[in-house]
Amino acid sequence: MFRTPVVNSIVVAAALGLAAASAQAQGTVKIGVLLPMTGQQQSTGVQIAAAIRLYMAQNGDTVAGKKIEVIFKDDGAVPDNSKRLAQELIVNDKVNLLVGFGVTPAALAVAPLSAEAKVPQIVMAAGTSIITERSPYIVRTSFTLPQSTVIMANWALKNGIKKVVSMVSDYAPGIDAEGSFKDTFTKGGGQIVESMRIPLANPDFAPFLQRIRDIGPDTAFIYFPGTQAGIFAKQFAERGLGQSGIKVIGPGDLTDDDELNGLGDQMLGMITAHQYSALHDSPMNKAYVAAFKQANNFRPNFISLGGYDGMHVIYEALKKTGGKTDGDALLAAMKGMRWESPRGTISIDPDTRDIVQNIYMRKVEKVNGELYNVEFQTFEAVKDPMKSAKK
Ligand code: DHB
Repeated sequence: MFRTPVVNSIVVAAALGLAAASAQAQGTVKIGVLLPMTGQQQSTGVQIAAAIRLYMAQNGDTVAGKKIEVIFKDDGAVPDNSKRLAQELIVNDKVNLLVGFGVTPAALAVAPLSAEAKVPQIVMAAGTSIITERSPYIVRTSFTLPQSTVIMANWALKNGIKKVVSMVSDYAPGIDAEGSFKDTFTKGGGQIVESMRIPLANPDFAPFLQRIRDIGPDTAFIYFPGTQAGIFAKQFAERGLGQSGIKVIGPGDLTDDDELNGLGDQMLGMITAHQYSALHDSPMNKAYVAAFKQANNFRPNFISLGGYDGMHVIYEALKKTGGKTDGDALLAAMKGMRWESPRGTISIDPDTRDIVQNIYMRKVEKVNGELYNVEFQTFEAVKDPMKSAKK
Protein backbone atom coordinates (compact mmCIF):
# COMPACT_ATOMS: atom_id res chain seq x y z
CA MET A 1 0.00 0.00 0.00
CA PHE A 2 1.11 3.54 -0.64
CA ARG A 3 1.28 5.94 2.26
CA THR A 4 -1.36 8.62 2.70
CA PRO A 5 -0.04 11.58 0.72
CA VAL A 6 1.36 14.42 2.77
CA VAL A 7 -0.39 17.25 0.98
CA ASN A 8 -0.91 20.40 3.01
CA SER A 9 -4.70 20.58 2.80
CA ILE A 10 -7.74 19.17 1.11
CA VAL A 11 -7.90 22.36 -0.97
CA VAL A 12 -4.43 21.75 -2.38
CA ALA A 13 -5.32 18.11 -3.01
CA ALA A 14 -8.41 19.16 -4.98
CA ALA A 15 -6.41 21.74 -6.93
CA LEU A 16 -3.84 19.09 -7.83
CA GLY A 17 -6.57 16.88 -9.30
CA LEU A 18 -8.13 19.74 -11.28
CA ALA A 19 -4.73 20.92 -12.49
CA ALA A 20 -3.89 17.50 -13.85
CA ALA A 21 -7.24 17.24 -15.62
CA SER A 22 -7.18 20.66 -17.28
CA ALA A 23 -3.63 20.31 -18.59
CA GLN A 24 -4.71 17.35 -20.70
CA ALA A 25 -6.99 19.49 -22.78
CA GLN A 26 -4.17 21.60 -24.19
CA GLY A 27 -1.91 21.02 -27.16
CA THR A 28 1.24 21.27 -25.09
CA VAL A 29 2.93 18.70 -22.89
CA LYS A 30 4.48 20.52 -19.96
CA ILE A 31 7.42 18.95 -18.18
CA GLY A 32 8.55 20.41 -14.85
CA VAL A 33 12.25 19.76 -14.22
CA LEU A 34 13.49 19.89 -10.61
CA LEU A 35 17.27 19.84 -10.33
CA PRO A 36 20.08 21.19 -8.16
CA MET A 37 21.54 23.89 -10.42
CA THR A 38 23.36 25.50 -7.46
CA GLY A 39 25.04 24.12 -4.35
CA GLN A 40 27.08 21.03 -3.68
CA GLN A 41 25.11 18.79 -6.08
CA GLN A 42 25.24 21.32 -8.92
CA SER A 43 27.09 19.05 -11.35
CA THR A 44 24.12 16.64 -11.23
CA GLY A 45 21.81 19.43 -12.40
CA VAL A 46 24.23 20.60 -15.06
CA GLN A 47 24.70 17.08 -16.50
CA ILE A 48 20.98 16.27 -16.59
CA ALA A 49 19.92 19.64 -17.99
CA ALA A 50 22.53 19.27 -20.74
CA ALA A 51 21.28 15.77 -21.57
CA ILE A 52 17.63 16.88 -21.67
CA ARG A 53 18.56 19.70 -24.05
CA LEU A 54 20.62 17.35 -26.22
CA TYR A 55 17.78 14.82 -26.47
CA MET A 56 15.36 17.56 -27.51
CA ALA A 57 17.82 19.03 -30.02
CA GLN A 58 18.19 15.59 -31.61
CA ASN A 59 14.53 14.53 -31.47
CA GLY A 60 12.63 17.77 -31.87
CA ASP A 61 10.19 19.48 -29.54
CA THR A 62 6.97 18.04 -30.97
CA VAL A 63 5.74 14.53 -30.18
CA ALA A 64 2.46 12.95 -31.29
CA GLY A 65 1.30 16.37 -32.43
CA LYS A 66 2.04 18.00 -29.08
CA LYS A 67 4.59 20.65 -28.33
CA ILE A 68 6.99 19.75 -25.53
CA GLU A 69 7.54 22.59 -23.09
CA VAL A 70 10.21 22.18 -20.42
CA ILE A 71 10.21 24.33 -17.27
CA PHE A 72 13.49 24.19 -15.30
CA LYS A 73 13.49 24.92 -11.55
CA ASP A 74 16.51 24.93 -9.23
CA ASP A 75 15.75 23.13 -5.96
CA GLY A 76 19.37 23.24 -4.74
CA ALA A 77 18.88 19.59 -3.67
CA VAL A 78 16.90 20.85 -0.65
CA PRO A 79 13.81 18.62 -0.26
CA ASP A 80 11.57 21.40 1.12
CA ASN A 81 12.30 23.40 -2.03
CA SER A 82 11.60 20.37 -4.22
CA LYS A 83 8.21 19.90 -2.60
CA ARG A 84 7.21 23.56 -2.79
CA LEU A 85 8.36 23.91 -6.40
CA ALA A 86 6.60 20.68 -7.37
CA GLN A 87 3.36 21.98 -5.88
CA GLU A 88 3.71 25.25 -7.82
CA LEU A 89 4.51 23.38 -11.02
CA ILE A 90 1.44 21.16 -10.65
CA VAL A 91 -1.06 23.77 -9.48
CA ASN A 92 0.10 26.94 -11.27
CA ASP A 93 1.98 25.71 -14.34
CA LYS A 94 -0.21 22.63 -14.74
CA VAL A 95 2.67 20.40 -15.70
CA ASN A 96 1.88 16.91 -17.02
CA LEU A 97 5.11 15.35 -15.76
CA LEU A 98 7.73 16.05 -13.10
CA VAL A 99 11.29 14.97 -13.83
CA GLY A 100 14.85 15.37 -12.45
CA PHE A 101 15.44 14.71 -8.71
CA GLY A 102 19.16 15.06 -8.11
CA VAL A 103 19.14 13.48 -4.65
CA THR A 104 17.04 10.89 -2.83
CA PRO A 105 15.46 13.31 -0.30
CA ALA A 106 14.16 15.47 -3.20
CA ALA A 107 12.59 12.46 -4.92
CA LEU A 108 10.99 11.27 -1.67
CA ALA A 109 9.62 14.75 -0.86
CA VAL A 110 7.74 14.91 -4.18
CA ALA A 111 6.49 11.30 -4.28
CA PRO A 112 3.27 11.98 -2.29
CA LEU A 113 2.38 14.84 -4.69
CA SER A 114 2.95 12.65 -7.73
CA ALA A 115 0.73 9.96 -6.17
CA GLU A 116 -2.03 12.42 -5.26
CA ALA A 117 -2.10 14.31 -8.55
CA LYS A 118 -1.41 11.19 -10.67
CA VAL A 119 1.49 13.05 -12.29
CA PRO A 120 4.28 10.80 -13.62
CA GLN A 121 7.53 11.45 -11.73
CA ILE A 122 10.63 10.43 -13.68
CA VAL A 123 13.59 10.00 -11.32
CA MET A 124 16.71 10.79 -13.36
CA ALA A 125 19.48 10.75 -10.71
CA ALA A 126 18.55 9.56 -7.21
CA GLY A 127 19.56 5.98 -6.45
CA THR A 128 18.03 4.72 -3.19
CA SER A 129 16.14 1.50 -3.75
CA ILE A 130 12.92 2.45 -1.95
CA ILE A 131 12.10 5.56 -4.05
CA THR A 132 9.98 3.80 -6.68
CA GLU A 133 7.80 2.29 -3.94
CA ARG A 134 6.67 5.71 -2.73
CA SER A 135 4.33 6.56 -5.62
CA PRO A 136 2.75 4.36 -8.30
CA TYR A 137 3.55 7.18 -10.78
CA ILE A 138 7.34 7.01 -10.31
CA VAL A 139 9.53 5.61 -13.08
CA ARG A 140 13.31 5.57 -12.58
CA THR A 141 15.86 6.00 -15.39
CA SER A 142 18.98 6.39 -13.21
CA PHE A 143 20.11 3.38 -11.15
CA THR A 144 19.95 1.87 -7.71
CA LEU A 145 23.11 1.60 -5.61
CA PRO A 146 22.56 -2.11 -4.89
CA GLN A 147 22.57 -2.80 -8.65
CA SER A 148 26.30 -2.16 -8.67
CA THR A 149 27.33 -2.91 -5.07
CA VAL A 150 26.07 -6.52 -5.16
CA ILE A 151 28.03 -7.14 -8.38
CA MET A 152 31.03 -5.44 -6.75
CA ALA A 153 30.80 -7.69 -3.67
CA ASN A 154 30.66 -10.86 -5.77
CA TRP A 155 33.64 -9.68 -7.81
CA ALA A 156 35.59 -8.96 -4.60
CA LEU A 157 34.87 -12.46 -3.25
CA LYS A 158 36.07 -14.07 -6.49
CA ASN A 159 39.22 -11.95 -6.60
CA GLY A 160 40.83 -12.77 -3.27
CA ILE A 161 39.53 -9.76 -1.31
CA LYS A 162 38.92 -10.86 2.28
CA LYS A 163 39.15 -7.97 4.73
CA VAL A 164 37.32 -4.76 3.90
CA VAL A 165 36.69 -1.40 5.54
CA SER A 166 33.59 0.32 4.21
CA MET A 167 33.18 4.11 4.03
CA VAL A 168 29.91 5.63 2.75
CA SER A 169 28.01 8.91 2.68
CA ASP A 170 25.69 9.09 5.68
CA TYR A 171 22.34 9.33 3.90
CA ALA A 172 19.90 6.93 2.25
CA PRO A 173 21.89 5.82 -0.84
CA GLY A 174 25.01 5.39 1.32
CA ILE A 175 23.09 3.18 3.74
CA ASP A 176 21.81 1.13 0.75
CA ALA A 177 25.35 0.81 -0.64
CA GLU A 178 26.86 -0.18 2.72
CA GLY A 179 24.11 -2.70 3.53
CA SER A 180 23.89 -4.41 0.14
CA PHE A 181 27.68 -4.72 -0.22
CA LYS A 182 28.05 -6.06 3.32
CA ASP A 183 25.20 -8.56 2.96
CA THR A 184 26.60 -10.19 -0.16
CA PHE A 185 30.24 -9.96 0.88
CA THR A 186 29.82 -11.44 4.36
CA LYS A 187 27.43 -14.18 3.17
CA GLY A 188 30.18 -15.21 0.75
CA GLY A 189 32.75 -15.44 3.59
CA GLY A 190 34.27 -11.95 3.42
CA GLN A 191 34.87 -9.82 6.49
CA ILE A 192 33.92 -6.16 7.06
CA VAL A 193 36.30 -4.93 9.75
CA GLU A 194 34.75 -1.49 10.12
CA SER A 195 31.85 0.50 8.62
CA MET A 196 32.22 4.30 8.52
CA ARG A 197 29.57 6.88 7.60
CA ILE A 198 30.57 10.37 6.53
CA PRO A 199 28.31 13.46 6.61
CA LEU A 200 26.88 14.30 3.19
CA ALA A 201 27.23 18.05 3.70
CA ASN A 202 30.85 19.28 3.87
CA PRO A 203 32.43 15.85 3.95
CA ASP A 204 35.88 15.58 5.49
CA PHE A 205 37.28 12.24 4.39
CA ALA A 206 40.71 12.84 5.92
CA PRO A 207 40.20 11.37 9.43
CA PHE A 208 38.41 8.36 7.94
CA LEU A 209 41.17 7.79 5.41
CA GLN A 210 43.72 7.98 8.21
CA ARG A 211 41.69 5.40 10.17
CA ILE A 212 41.64 3.10 7.12
CA ARG A 213 45.41 3.40 6.92
CA ASP A 214 45.75 2.54 10.60
CA ILE A 215 43.47 -0.51 10.35
CA GLY A 216 45.22 -1.74 7.20
CA PRO A 217 42.53 -3.83 5.45
CA ASP A 218 43.37 -5.34 2.06
CA THR A 219 40.60 -3.24 0.49
CA ALA A 220 38.49 -0.13 1.12
CA PHE A 221 34.92 -0.12 -0.22
CA ILE A 222 34.01 3.51 -0.85
CA TYR A 223 30.72 5.19 -1.79
CA PHE A 224 29.68 8.82 -1.93
CA PRO A 225 27.69 10.66 -4.59
CA GLY A 226 29.68 11.41 -7.71
CA THR A 227 29.90 15.14 -7.05
CA GLN A 228 32.32 14.49 -4.18
CA ALA A 229 34.90 12.56 -6.20
CA GLY A 230 37.24 15.56 -6.36
CA ILE A 231 37.25 16.15 -2.60
CA PHE A 232 37.88 12.47 -2.00
CA ALA A 233 40.75 12.24 -4.49
CA LYS A 234 42.55 15.22 -2.99
CA GLN A 235 42.40 13.83 0.55
CA PHE A 236 43.20 10.33 -0.69
CA ALA A 237 46.42 11.70 -2.19
CA GLU A 238 47.26 13.75 0.90
CA ARG A 239 46.97 10.67 3.14
CA GLY A 240 49.22 8.67 0.82
CA LEU A 241 46.70 5.87 0.48
CA GLY A 242 47.66 5.33 -3.13
CA GLN A 243 51.08 4.11 -1.97
CA SER A 244 49.80 2.06 0.99
CA GLY A 245 48.86 -1.03 -1.03
CA ILE A 246 45.22 -0.84 0.16
CA LYS A 247 42.97 -1.40 -2.85
CA VAL A 248 40.00 0.90 -3.42
CA ILE A 249 36.73 -0.44 -4.85
CA GLY A 250 33.13 0.80 -5.00
CA PRO A 251 30.26 1.89 -7.21
CA GLY A 252 31.32 4.09 -10.14
CA ASP A 253 30.48 7.34 -8.36
CA LEU A 254 34.07 7.15 -7.12
CA THR A 255 35.51 7.47 -10.62
CA ASP A 256 32.84 9.79 -12.07
CA ASP A 257 33.61 10.61 -15.72
CA ASP A 258 32.79 14.25 -15.00
CA GLU A 259 35.84 14.58 -12.73
CA LEU A 260 38.00 11.52 -13.32
CA ASN A 261 40.40 12.95 -15.86
CA GLY A 262 41.24 15.89 -13.59
CA LEU A 263 42.02 13.73 -10.55
CA GLY A 264 45.44 12.52 -11.62
CA ASP A 265 47.27 9.21 -11.84
CA GLN A 266 46.46 8.26 -8.23
CA MET A 267 43.11 7.06 -9.67
CA LEU A 268 44.79 4.51 -11.96
CA GLY A 269 43.82 0.91 -11.24
CA MET A 270 40.69 1.66 -9.20
CA ILE A 271 38.07 -1.03 -9.78
CA THR A 272 34.41 -0.05 -9.80
CA ALA A 273 31.08 -1.56 -10.82
CA HIS A 274 28.68 0.74 -12.64
CA GLN A 275 26.15 1.19 -15.41
CA TYR A 276 27.96 3.67 -17.61
CA SER A 277 31.41 4.67 -18.82
CA ALA A 278 31.95 7.49 -21.31
CA LEU A 279 34.26 4.99 -23.05
CA HIS A 280 31.51 2.34 -23.44
CA ASP A 281 32.19 0.74 -26.79
CA SER A 282 29.09 1.11 -28.94
CA PRO A 283 28.33 3.26 -32.00
CA MET A 284 25.45 4.85 -30.11
CA ASN A 285 27.66 5.84 -27.18
CA LYS A 286 30.38 7.21 -29.43
CA ALA A 287 27.79 9.43 -31.12
CA TYR A 288 26.33 10.43 -27.72
CA VAL A 289 29.69 11.42 -26.23
CA ALA A 290 30.69 13.34 -29.36
CA ALA A 291 27.40 15.28 -29.53
CA PHE A 292 27.40 15.95 -25.78
CA LYS A 293 30.99 17.21 -25.80
CA GLN A 294 30.36 19.39 -28.82
CA ALA A 295 27.37 21.04 -27.12
CA ASN A 296 28.89 21.39 -23.65
CA ASN A 297 32.68 21.13 -23.77
CA PHE A 298 32.76 18.47 -21.06
CA ARG A 299 32.27 14.71 -20.84
CA PRO A 300 28.86 13.22 -20.15
CA ASN A 301 28.83 11.10 -16.98
CA PHE A 302 26.51 8.37 -15.65
CA ILE A 303 24.18 11.02 -14.25
CA SER A 304 23.58 12.52 -17.72
CA LEU A 305 22.14 9.21 -18.96
CA GLY A 306 19.28 9.41 -16.47
CA GLY A 307 18.22 12.64 -18.19
CA TYR A 308 18.75 11.44 -21.75
CA ASP A 309 16.95 8.12 -21.21
CA GLY A 310 14.27 9.82 -19.10
CA MET A 311 13.37 12.02 -22.08
CA HIS A 312 13.29 8.92 -24.28
CA VAL A 313 10.77 7.23 -21.96
CA ILE A 314 8.55 10.33 -22.12
CA TYR A 315 8.76 10.76 -25.91
CA GLU A 316 8.07 7.07 -26.61
CA ALA A 317 5.23 6.92 -24.07
CA LEU A 318 3.59 9.95 -25.69
CA LYS A 319 3.86 8.28 -29.08
CA LYS A 320 2.12 5.21 -27.66
CA THR A 321 -0.70 7.21 -26.04
CA GLY A 322 -1.16 9.35 -29.16
CA GLY A 323 -0.25 12.44 -27.14
CA LYS A 324 -2.57 11.64 -24.21
CA THR A 325 -1.01 12.92 -20.98
CA ASP A 326 -3.26 11.14 -18.51
CA GLY A 327 -0.97 9.75 -15.77
CA ASP A 328 -2.35 6.22 -15.90
CA ALA A 329 -2.05 6.04 -19.70
CA LEU A 330 1.54 7.33 -19.61
CA LEU A 331 2.52 4.87 -16.87
CA ALA A 332 0.98 1.96 -18.78
CA ALA A 333 2.99 3.01 -21.84
CA MET A 334 6.23 3.27 -19.84
CA LYS A 335 5.98 -0.07 -18.01
CA GLY A 336 8.01 -2.74 -19.77
CA MET A 337 9.51 -0.31 -22.30
CA ARG A 338 12.87 -1.52 -23.60
CA TRP A 339 15.40 0.33 -25.72
CA GLU A 340 18.99 0.88 -26.71
CA SER A 341 20.71 3.57 -24.63
CA PRO A 342 24.29 4.84 -24.86
CA ARG A 343 24.93 2.66 -21.75
CA GLY A 344 23.59 -0.53 -23.44
CA THR A 345 20.12 -2.13 -23.60
CA ILE A 346 17.87 -0.96 -20.76
CA SER A 347 14.23 -1.46 -19.80
CA ILE A 348 11.63 -0.39 -17.26
CA ASP A 349 10.61 -3.31 -15.06
CA PRO A 350 6.81 -3.50 -15.51
CA ASP A 351 6.34 -4.65 -11.89
CA THR A 352 8.55 -2.17 -10.03
CA ARG A 353 8.88 0.71 -12.59
CA ASP A 354 12.59 0.63 -11.83
CA ILE A 355 15.37 0.49 -14.42
CA VAL A 356 16.86 -2.82 -15.53
CA GLN A 357 20.35 -2.36 -16.99
CA ASN A 358 23.77 -3.87 -17.58
CA ILE A 359 26.37 -3.44 -14.86
CA TYR A 360 29.98 -3.34 -16.02
CA MET A 361 33.16 -4.07 -14.08
CA ARG A 362 35.69 -1.36 -14.95
CA LYS A 363 39.24 -0.37 -14.18
CA VAL A 364 40.69 3.15 -14.40
CA GLU A 365 43.26 3.27 -17.20
CA LYS A 366 44.84 5.88 -19.41
CA VAL A 367 43.45 5.88 -22.94
CA ASN A 368 44.85 8.36 -25.46
CA GLY A 369 46.37 10.32 -22.59
CA GLU A 370 43.10 10.63 -20.62
CA LEU A 371 41.79 8.71 -17.60
CA TYR A 372 38.78 6.52 -18.31
CA ASN A 373 36.84 3.64 -16.78
CA VAL A 374 37.69 0.73 -19.07
CA GLU A 375 34.99 -1.97 -18.97
CA PHE A 376 36.27 -5.56 -18.65
CA GLN A 377 33.19 -7.61 -17.73
CA THR A 378 29.45 -7.23 -18.32
CA PHE A 379 26.52 -8.41 -16.21
CA GLU A 380 23.40 -8.15 -18.33
CA ALA A 381 19.93 -6.88 -17.43
CA VAL A 382 20.47 -6.41 -13.68
CA LYS A 383 17.34 -5.63 -11.64
CA ASP A 384 17.42 -3.80 -8.31
CA PRO A 385 18.53 -6.62 -5.98
CA MET A 386 16.98 -5.02 -2.90
CA LYS A 387 13.50 -5.14 -4.39
CA SER A 388 14.08 -8.65 -5.76
CA ALA A 389 15.08 -9.77 -2.23
CA LYS A 390 11.79 -8.45 -0.78
CA LYS A 391 9.70 -10.69 -3.05
C1 DHB B 1 22.20 10.09 -5.30
C2 DHB B 1 23.00 8.96 -5.38
C3 DHB B 1 24.11 8.96 -6.21
O1 DHB B 1 24.90 7.88 -6.28
C4 DHB B 1 24.42 10.08 -6.98
O2 DHB B 1 25.50 10.04 -7.77
C5 DHB B 1 23.62 11.20 -6.90
C6 DHB B 1 22.51 11.20 -6.06
C7 DHB B 1 21.02 10.06 -4.39
O3 DHB B 1 20.30 9.06 -4.36
O4 DHB B 1 20.80 11.03 -3.65
